[in-house]
Amino acid sequence: MVFALSMLLLSLQIVYGFIMGFAHMGYDNLHSFIPFNTARAVHTNLLVVWLLSGFMGAAYYIIPEEAENELVSVKWAYIQLISLALVGITAIIGYHFNYWEGRKFLEIPRPLDWLVVANVLLFLGLILATLFKGKKRTTTALVLTMGLFFAALLYLPGMIWFDNQTMDSFFRWWVVHLWVEGVWELIMGGILAFLLIKLTGVDREVIEKWLYVIVGLTFISGILGTGHHYYFIGAPKYWLIIGGIFSAMEPLAFLAMALFAVAMYRKGEKRHPNKMALNWTLGTAIVSFAGAGLLGLAHTFPAVNLYTHGTLVTAMHAHLAFWGAYGMIVLALISYTMPNMTGRKFYDSATGNYAFWLSNIGMIGMTTAFAAAGVAQVYMERIMGLEFGEVQKEIQIHFLVLVLCATLFATGITLYIYEFVRYGRPTDEALIK
Ligand code: HEM
Ligand code: HEM
Ligand SMILES: [Fe+2]
Repeated sequence: MVFALSMLLLSLQIVYGFIMGFAHMGYDNLHSFIPFNTARAVHTNLLVVWLLSGFMGAAYYIIPEEAENELVSVKWAYIQLISLALVGITAIIGYHFNYWEGRKFLEIPRPLDWLVVANVLLFLGLILATLFKGKKRTTTALVLTMGLFFAALLYLPGMIWFDNQTMDSFFRWWVVHLWVEGVWELIMGGILAFLLIKLTGVDREVIEKWLYVIVGLTFISGILGTGHHYYFIGAPKYWLIIGGIFSAMEPLAFLAMALFAVAMYRKGEKRHPNKMALNWTLGTAIVSFAGAGLLGLAHTFPAVNLYTHGTLVTAMHAHLAFWGAYGMIVLALISYTMPNMTGRKFYDSATGNYAFWLSNIGMIGMTTAFAAAGVAQVYMERIMGLEFGEVQKEIQIHFLVLVLCATLFATGITLYIYEFVRYGRPTDEALIK
């Protein structure tokens, strides 16, 4: 159920992505119904909600299994899921009628924020109760829970009201940056460790030692790394040097995850037959290093960011990072868990393989198109000094490439969802139980 919601939102996100892709090509026919800013807010918010519902689904699966305890209340879990979906739908509809706050990623209006808070408290309550009443508290389960707990906590600074734009931005980054470059990495690390334990057959002790290293690297670099968003928003100058140094260390955490996954894969002797899940698991570790680590590094130094800040170079990095780190880990977990839950073997089908390769090749192509558009934009706008609108016209051609690659990507996702539905329906035995 949770995963089905997540897949549905992903499809919608892609629809809005296409609307913007075409708008960028000059075909903004829907403008009077869905202006660009609305499409953008819907696209990014849907992204966050499908990832969060994926994480919640992950926790509902992993925590009971690791703690050796049944989920304390399935009924409340359903209530939590349905209410989350309702708040999400309200917010998305609201955006179309200008009921929103113009703060990128945190567009949800404050009153709805309180509903989100209530919902997440319910979710955390269920997870914590299951974990602490359980027989075991494994490192993997603790890291995952810690990630979820701090993610919830860090939502709050974004809800404080400031009249001052700089203050508002300053705390907005506590949510946006400290999520994706901090606590979500713990969630990713936890899920990754769980999958590697199951899929490679390597001993838990070995895998969990790596997890400590990843958590350590994340905290050392990620917290002060927030400084890379404080260069030009009116915060004090010392952030230039702090942000530059610490954010440059952030790729290490992603590198560690990539090396970790590959090393465990090579070490493992008792491989699980679920090859699709293994593809996605190794894929997420490697693509996140490329998208978050390398493409993040590409614009994290103040001297570079001075030129690239807020351009399509940012969109280039944002797509591959979000996809590699958080999109793919959710798809990896779904590939692993669905066959276990329904008893249908989703192990190694041609469709599943096409889904993996088409979506990844498509996303890499999209990233390249954004990169070409971004570099051209930076050059014309910030070096030659051309006007914003003029530059947007010049770079329209790159969006043709973007839309073509996005079509490959969307085909891959369609195949994934096709498999998801085909193998995800419960078998008769599962229904009887
Ligand atoms: C059919 C597929 C997609 C298309 C055509 C598409 C297109 C776009 C476009 C045109 C923008 C706006 C760029 C601008 O500000 O001018 C955007 C923003 C964004 N998209 Fe997508 N997208 C797609 C799929 C995805 C996926 C799968 C993800 C995540 C895994 C994603 C994450 C984002 C993010 C995070 C932003 C905001 C970027 C920023 O903050 O600069 N998109 N997308
Ligand atoms: C999975 C991890 C990551 C994700 C999902 C991610 C995603 C994003 C997104 C969505 C933005 C645009 C935010 C906004 O303008 O509101 C952004 C900006 C940025 N990211 Fe990341 N990122 C990740 C990791 C990293 C890492 C490791 C680095 C550095 C090494 C980095 C460097 C940057 C920089 C410098 C910006 C600011 C761009 C600008 O000035 O416009 N990111 N990232
Ligand atoms: Fe950041």
